[in-house]
Amino acid sequence: MSDETPTIPALAVLVSGRGSNLTAIFRAIERDELHARVALVISSRADAPALDIARQHGIETCVIAPKSFASRAEAGAAIIAALQEAHVRAVALAGYKPILDASVVGAYPNRILNVHPSLLPAFAGGMAPRPQADALAAGVKVSGCTVHIVTADVDAGPIVAQAAVPVLDDDTVESLSARILVEEHRLLPLALEWLFSGRLRIGNNRASLTGTSQQPDE
Ligand code: GRF
Repeated sequence: MSDETPTIPALAVLVSGRGSNLTAIFRAIERDELHARVALVISSRADAPALDIARQHGIETCVIAPKSFASRAEAGAAIIAALQEAHVRAVALAGYKPILDASVVGAYPNRILNVHPSLLPAFAGGMAPRPQADALAAGVKVSGCTVHIVTADVDAGPIVAQAAVPVLDDDTVESLSARILVEEHRLLPLALEWLFSGRLRIGNNRASLTGTSQQPDE
């Protein structure tokens, strides 16, 4: 029997803004609900408040702004280099705005998760608050969020988990976004835990869960 202490898997979180999903990841780790450590936070913007949240937690940060590179591929190479240096096992896109270069997706197949503020495939594509605004404009009665595997096709990778919320008659983009955000904060850490614990199976563009039957609403 080995007496080696099991290593805690390393996670990188990619951000562009406020960082509330990053905070939810830290909270889940603190509560022992997510068995991983945040090894690196990469921001696409130097002024993202999420960077301050990472620094407050003593986490290494770096800014990789796509506009400072000649191409998306070059920015992708910089991201891969940073991820490799931090020895991360998986990546969470938590309010990350740029479209990731396909090389990054290829370097971490089925190991990058994104949270999107709609019930995909509805209202795919735009960044928050566009999906919430589109849901209101379409008059849907239910919306929510989706955690999915990131593939080369934007917002089209295998769906890992979804949570629905009602759309109320007097909702504004802000009130609907706030209701959806509560579910994002619950679902992204949970999906990451499924990934790290080896319970996610991906095949035929579908994700399924093996092992015990914990569901998003438990
Ligand atoms: C969230 O609504 C997320 O779904 C979307 O961007 C927003 C980011 O929020 N991708 P935050 O930076 O995690 O607070």
